[in-house]
Amino acid sequence: MTDSENNKDIEILAFAGSLRKGSYNKAVLRASKDLAPKSMHITIFDLAGIPLYNADVEAQGNPKQVTEFKEAIRKADGLLIATPEYNHGVPAVTKNAVDWASRPTQNAPLNEKPVGILGASPGMTGSARGQSQLRQAFEFTNSYCMPQPEILVFRAHQKFDDDGNLTDEATRKYLGKYLEALYNWVNKFIEE
Ligand code: FNR
Repeated sequence: MTDSENNKDIEILAFAGSLRKGSYNKAVLRASKDLAPKSMHITIFDLAGIPLYNADVEAQGNPKQVTEFKEAIRKADGLLIATPEYNHGVPAVTKNAVDWASRPTQNAPLNEKPVGILGASPGMTGSARGQSQLRQAFEFTNSYCMPQPEILVFRAHQKFDDDGNLTDEATRKYLGKYLEALYNWVNKFIEE
């Protein structure tokens, strides 16, 4: 399908690697829904119901929320992942979701899926190391991680209001550009 300007509609599944209500990473995804190009439709999946990966559980059949998560990834044209950084790495919540979606190895939802990574943190590095480490996982899953641009929402506590709205104009502008780049990136992998 195409929009009024003849741009192809694309579906993006987004998730944040944080479970807390006031998460800056969740807030960045909500802002992304507003700032994305018109033809890019973002659905946010809440990871709250995803249990810790356990191969014994998986062998007996995926839990309902995991099945829903994996189906949502399969259906999407691409992913947008907002990850915090914990102790200079990828938080367990983000990595656990990726681990479920990387199974089964031969027919994984993440296989050949285009992915955009972003992240927010109150610190000065804006989740840079968490994002960087997350990229490594997508080598194994054979996913197409957008190399550039990157977006590091640093000093996040100064960029949102009390209701979690992204109020910093420079970040809004840059996030819009990032999402345009992601739209173009995902389009490269859609078969005509
Ligand atoms: C953090 N935080 C953090 N921040 C950072 O920039 N680098 C880091 O290495 C860490 N390490 C870290 C470890 C743990 C266990 C916690 C709980 C926190 C702070 C982190 O960026 C902050 O809590 C963010 O607000 C988390 O993201 P959400 O929940 O706002 O999306």
